[in-house]
Amino acid sequence: MNHLKLRLGRRAPKTAIILGSSLGPVAAAVGDPLIIPYTDLPDFPVPRVSGHAGRIVVGRLGGAEVAVLQGRAHPYESGNAAVMRPAIEMLKGAGIETLILTNAAGSLKPAIRAGSLMLITDHINYSGMNPLIGQHGDENFVSLTDAYDPALRKRFIAAARAEDIALEQGVYVWFSGPSFETPAEIRMFQMIGAAAVGMSTVPETIIARRLGLKVAGLSVITNLAAGIEGANPSHEETKSEGAKAVGHMKRLLARYFAGT
Ligand code: HPA
Repeated sequence: MNHLKLRLGRRAPKTAIILGSSLGPVAAAVGDPLIIPYTDLPDFPVPRVSGHAGRIVVGRLGGAEVAVLQGRAHPYESGNAAVMRPAIEMLKGAGIETLILTNAAGSLKPAIRAGSLMLITDHINYSGMNPLIGQHGDENFVSLTDAYDPALRKRFIAAARAEDIALEQGVYVWFSGPSFETPAEIRMFQMIGAAAVGMSTVPETIIARRLGLKVAGLSVITNLAAGIEGANPSHEETKSEGAKAVGHMKRLLARYFAGT
């Protein structure tokens, strides 16, 4: 039995959005909201990190019906890279076809400053973990070419242009956390071609692609990564800078769903 589907009733969102650290207030843009706390859904992973409310807001955004997840559980909370699998499976079982993943991230490029939005073009899994480890069957050899759907990316680029919001594009590297990176690690990430670093999203993308969902990813840059111009990131900074990007993220998503 899919408990989310039961709770949705006649509502039938086809897209889910997972809101990262401090982006929860983006859900205020959702009209006619139905609110479902994660704790109402058996087996749904509940985040234990501050800045993640832990509820689904279902309603209308820019003309589309969506399910907005305020917060995610992270692999660093438990060591389980597949921690979000039950959530993504439940979304799929409730009719979701597209997953939009958002996160807070550190910038590896001095030109991409705090407050910027970045469309994820590809990722590097630097965690040493994979959420599909231990799963059996040939379906687990999932292709991650074009994991971040090119058509959805085009739609976001068009939406950003229409809203006059600067949208950076680049590769996101997953570092397990919860400690931040060292400046030496950040220099390595710069060398291997990443533009942003964070502690989420990649395992969710892998799980979603395994389940056949389309994926898009957006990072809110909350800081320059460790050591860049002397940066010394903190969770406080992630939360306060993430909150400042809420307005842009709301507008970008609303325009994306309005079809630009
Ligand atoms: N590193 C990793 N994760 C992050 C950062 C960072 O600098 N900023 C926000 N999330």
